[in-house]
Amino acid sequence: MMNGHSFRPGVGVAASSILCVAAIVGCTADDGGGIVDPFAAQPDVSEGLVLVSDDLSELLEHGALEGACERWSAAPDDRRAMLQCGKWMFFYESFEAPGVPRALVETVLRELPEEVGPSFERYGMFGNPTRDDGLPLGLAPAAPIRDAPTVTFTCASCHLGRMPDGRFAIGAPNHEYQYGKHILALVLTPLVAITQRPDQHDPDAIAAIQPLLDRIESDPTIRDRLLSDLAPLVGSGAMVTLSPEMERHYATWRGSNQDFLMAPVPLDDGIHTISKVPTIWGIPNEDEIRRAGMPDAMLAWTGGATSVGRFLDGFVVLFQGVHERWDHERLRPLEELVMALRPPAPTVAQDAERVETGRRLFADAGCTGCHDGPRGGGRRLFDYEEIGTDDVMRRWMDPDGDGQPCCGIDSEGLDPLTGRLKSPRLAGLHASRLFLHNGSVESLEDLFCLDGHERPTITEPAYGDGGHRFTCDGLSDDDKHALIAFLRSI
Ligand code: HEC
Ligand code: HEC
Repeated sequence: MMNGHSFRPGVGVAASSILCVAAIVGCTADDGGGIVDPFAAQPDVSEGLVLVSDDLSELLEHGALEGACERWSAAPDDRRAMLQCGKWMFFYESFEAPGVPRALVETVLRELPEEVGPSFERYGMFGNPTRDDGLPLGLAPAAPIRDAPTVTFTCASCHLGRMPDGRFAIGAPNHEYQYGKHILALVLTPLVAITQRPDQHDPDAIAAIQPLLDRIESDPTIRDRLLSDLAPLVGSGAMVTLSPEMERHYATWRGSNQDFLMAPVPLDDGIHTISKVPTIWGIPNEDEIRRAGMPDAMLAWTGGATSVGRFLDGFVVLFQGVHERWDHERLRPLEELVMALRPPAPTVAQDAERVETGRRLFADAGCTGCHDGPRGGGRRLFDYEEIGTDDVMRRWMDPDGDGQPCCGIDSEGLDPLTGRLKSPRLAGLHASRLFLHNGSVESLEDLFCLDGHERPTITEPAYGDGGHRFTCDGLSDDDKHALIAFLRSI
C-alpha cells in the first residue's frame, strides 16, 4: 500500500532544530547543516516572462506565443525560447489526445450565448483575446475521433486563475471554473433536448442545465439545428453518456473541484473522489528537496507524483495522449515553465503586528511540525487518521485498497499509489478561496472554526469538511486571526 516514501530525516535535523529555536519561523532540515526558512524567497528563473498580469493579452504575449515551440526547436539552448514554448503548451497543448467533439462545443456556444456566456464565461472560463477560433482559454484543438474534430482541456482551464485583486496568474487555481456543470452543459443538454426525457436523468443535473433547456424549449429552431449539427456524431463514438450517479456528481461539485478518473475521461476507477485544483507554484527543485530531507517533490494530493515531469507523464497517460511521442524531452518546456512559477506577492496588506504574531504562532502552535518544507509544504506524507479530513481519496485509483492501480491502468510508468495525503504548500494561499484537498472549506475563517463557523457541516463521504482540527482547537480567536493574517501575507 505504501510507496516507500518513508520520512527520511536529514542528518541535519537535530542540529538545525536547536539552531532554529531563535528563528522566527520553525526551520527545515538541511543536510548541509544550515537553516532553511520555508518561506524564503526563491530565485527568479523565469527569464523575464510575464506570468502574472491584469491584462490577459499581455499574459499571452499579444499573440506572440504562436510558433514558440518551433522557435525553441530551432534554438534548443535558448532557455527563454524553451519557457515560451512551455507557456504555449500551458495554454494550447493537447498531447494528441482526443477530446469532446468540436461541433458540440461550437453549437452550444453559438445557440446558447446568453446561457453559457461568450467563451463559456458563465462557467468561469476566459475568452482568448489573441485568437479568433472562438475557443476559450483552456480548450484547444485535439485529436479527431474517427473524422470528427475535437477539443480538449489544457492546463489553462484549471490552472489559470484570477486572483482576488483581479490579476490573472499562471499557476493560480481557477476556482470560478465550473468543470462539472460545463461538462453537463456540453453532454447532457443536447441529449435531453433531443430525447425530451429529463426524467431519465439526475434531477440536480437537470436543474443545473435548466436555463439552457428552457431557452431551447422557447425556440424550436435551436433544437432543429442541434439535431442537424450533432447527427453526424451519433454512432461515431464521439458522444459521451453519463450514468445518473455521475451526472449528480458533476452537478454538485464546487468550482475547481473534480474527479479526474471518471467519464468522459476514459479511465474510471469507480471511486468518487473530489480534488481541489491546488496552486502549482513554488514547487521545490531537487536541491531544495535534498536539503529539506524530502523523499521527492510529493506532488498531487496523494503525494505520489515524484516530480513535475513524472506528473506530466501521468497526465498524458490518463488523458490518453500519445505517450510514446511525449517523452520527457518533449514535455520539458512545460515542466520548466511550471518549475519557474512563483507565488505572486499579495496586494492586500495585512496588519504588520498581527502578521508577526502569526509568524511566531505558526512555529509555536505546532504548524511547522507538518508544514516545515519549502513554501510550507510537508516533508512527509500523512495518514488520514492523523489529519482527520475526508478519507475517500485514500482509495484513489485503488478501490480494493491492495496498493495496485485498478481498472486496467498500467502501473508501469505511473508513480506508486500512496493511500496517504500530503500537506500542501501554503505560500500564495491569498490566491485560494477553497481549502482542504476536496475544496470542502470555503474560507480560512471556516478552516479555523472562527466566529461560530463550527466544522464539520458536511459529512457525506467525499464532500466532508471535517478534520484538520489543528486550526480549530487550543487556539484563541486572537491567535486564529493572527495566523490567518500571516497565511494571507506569504
Ligand atoms: C480539468 C482541470 C485540470 C487540468 C486541465 C490540469 N490540471 Fe493540474 N491539477 C488539477 C487538479 C484537480 C489537481 C489536484 C489533483 C490531485 O492531486 O488529486 C492538479 C494537480 C496538479 C499538479 C500538482 C501540484 C502539487 O503541488 O501537488 C501539477 C504540477 C499540475 N496539476 C500541473 C498541471 C499541468 C502542467 C497541466 C497541463 C498539462 C494540468 N495540471 C492540467 C486540475 C487540472
Ligand atoms: C499533523 C500535521 C499537520 C499539522 C500539525 C498542521 N497541518 Fe495544516 N495541513 C496538514 C495536511 C496533511 C493538510 C492537507 C489536509 C487536507 O487537504 O485534507 C493541511 C492543510 C492545511 C491548510 C489548507 C491548505 C489548502 O491549500 O487547502 C492550511 C491553511 C493549513 N494546513 C494550515 C495549518 C496551520 C496554520 C497549522 C497550525 C495551527 C497547521 N496547518 C497544522 C497537516 C498539518
